[in-house]
Amino acid sequence: MRLRPTPVLLLFCSLLLSVSGRFVVEKNSLTVLAPSSLVGRHDSAIGNFGAPDYGGSMVLDVKVPAKDDVHGCKPFPADYFKRTSHKANPTVALLDRGECYFALKVWNAQNAGAACVLVADDRTEPLITMDSPEEDEEAATYIDDISIPSALIEKSFGDKLKEELAKKTTVTVKLDWSESLPHPDENVEYELWTSSNDECGPKCDTQINFIKKFKGAAQLLEKGGYTTFTPHYITWYCSDSSMETEQCRTQCINHGRYCVPDPDHDFAKGYQGKDVVMENLRQLCVFKVGNASGKPWVWWDYVSDFHIRCPMRENKYNQDCAEKVIESLGLPVKEVRNCMGDPDVDEENKHLKAEQVAQVGQGERGDVTILPTLIINDRQYRGKLDKSTVLGAICSGFREGTDPPVCLDEDMQTNECLVNNGGCWKNDEANVTACKDTFRGRICECPVVQGVQFQGDGYTYCEAIGPARCSINNGGCWKETRHGQTFSACHPSHMKGCDCPPGFRGDGKLHCEDINECAEKSACQCAECNCKDKWGGYDCACKGNLLYIKEQDTCIGKGIGSSFWNMLFIVLVIIAVMSLAGYVIYRHRLRAYMDTEIRAIMAQYMPLDEENDDDDIRQPLRADI
Ligand SMILES: *[C@@H]1O[C@H](CO)[C@@H](O)[C@H](O)[C@H]1NC(C)=O
Ligand SMILES: *[C@@H]1O[C@H](CO)[C@@H](O)[C@H](O)[C@H]1NC(C)=O
Repeated sequence: MRLRPTPVLLLFCSLLLSVSGRFVVEKNSLTVLAPSSLVGRHDSAIGNFGAPDYGGSMVLDVKVPAKDDVHGCKPFPADYFKRTSHKANPTVALLDRGECYFALKVWNAQNAGAACVLVADDRTEPLITMDSPEEDEEAATYIDDISIPSALIEKSFGDKLKEELAKKTTVTVKLDWSESLPHPDENVEYELWTSSNDECGPKCDTQINFIKKFKGAAQLLEKGGYTTFTPHYITWYCSDSSMETEQCRTQCINHGRYCVPDPDHDFAKGYQGKDVVMENLRQLCVFKVGNASGKPWVWWDYVSDFHIRCPMRENKYNQDCAEKVIESLGLPVKEVRNCMGDPDVDEENKHLKAEQVAQVGQGERGDVTILPTLIINDRQYRGKLDKSTVLGAICSGFREGTDPPVCLDEDMQTNECLVNNGGCWKNDEANVTACKDTFRGRICECPVVQGVQFQGDGYTYCEAIGPARCSINNGGCWKETRHGQTFSACHPSHMKGCDCPPGFRGDGKLHCEDINECAEKSACQCAECNCKDKWGGYDCACKGNLLYIKEQDTCIGKGIGSSFWNMLFIVLVIIAVMSLAGYVIYRHRLRAYMDTEIRAIMAQYMPLDEENDDDDIRQPLRADI
């Protein structure tokens, strides 16, 4: 719905936007890959319907229809634009501007198998945005089903393409939307310019259906801290001279400051523009109050619940019904009312004032002139309001590698991994692949499987890292079992790599070979040794009654080596020395003891005066008396 005030309203109200009106044509790049005479980069303007491949690109062969059908306003023969074989590029239909809606051309080409549509302008002018038809009943039946991207190109460039095609040259182009949205960081800011009006036909239905379908993803993104969403509402204002007219009184609040066109274009009956302004303001305040309490996502719940519970057609589009919804969501009604202020005072409403200011474009964004308008990272989104197309666009706004999980969801996939595994590394035995399907197209990235991180270039190799890696396909290492005995080249104590276990040698990955220790004379080499190789080791027996000592790789017994004798001798000497020392100490102690005893006994009979100075000895002598 292009918000076009009714003619009557226009007469009395000055359209804020017409003062500074600056609509921005959002572009994607188009590169001609062949023929060489045309190679180069061109701009093309993204159509405002269908599904631009934000964040991605397409390589396509250009095809023009037959002479009498260059506008594409009638259905094409079946499969007219279908690619000729699986190996060929998909087809982009090159159609001329004029005679019917852009959207109809694209719809016809899509039905004939085109993967994309280029519309060549029919006049020399700067690029414009191909918009969807407004208030057209028939267009409404197909417009939501357009699922391919489209772009407008300049007339001169279109002529050159057609010239080459007339010579039966194959013209290959690459359309690239990856730079159509900035993607500077790990947070995407986006705004939806919308209206609470629910009686404007197919466009209003598309808008509310989008809000309902997108709600889940929006809330996940918001709760995860990935996005910052803000809803916005457009209003107009009445000029001073028209302020006191009937129109300005019924369509506006705050004395002509904030107006919305009458929803049913009839001032006398039904809801007035004023009612819509009030509900828009309420929705804005629900967002503000929710946001202030750390729950900005509650707006999505409120708007979808309000639409279900308080529709215009059931005559429930009013404050009473709205406040019940607010209460049911656990929001303070009083705060919402406070935020809304008094609609009858002759004063600015700071929230609606801020909305009017925001409506005017700054920088690259351009003015908001179409409702609904989605702005992602300060660029206007072009394309249909449809969950996966919009999500794809939002996802392309993240710096690569910071995409939230919802962007890597199944319905965001491109299935490029199904063909030749996308050219990425994979391991069939472990069923591990580096191909990851994303909205950006496939990427080759070593995966994390069951908590095990793989590292590598993703194209030719990935290697499992960490202690748990042996649990997946034995860490890509060699492993073999024979006769109930298993050897493995994966060692959980190593962070990476494979090493053949002792007794084997090899690369550790594909093979480890048994080492024949006997033949290589690396073990069991003493004269008495009898070597016998076995898988993963060897057996060594000694002749006679000798015993094999593996650590020394020798046999002991009769033929004990001189080193053993030396050792034994040293041990015996140590024992002898220690015994002797012990004996000496013992004797010394014994003598001391006996001396004491003897002297004690003798002391009973003849006191030893010369020992008087020694208390230790005298004391017991006295006690015994
Ligand atoms: C939402 O809340 C945050 C933090 O409370 C604040 O920084 C931000 O400006 C608020 N956004 C709006 C649009 O009010
Ligand atoms: C490989 O893994 C995928 C998904 O992880 C699964 O769908 C498929 O059945 C697996 N294939 C085999 C052979 O295990």
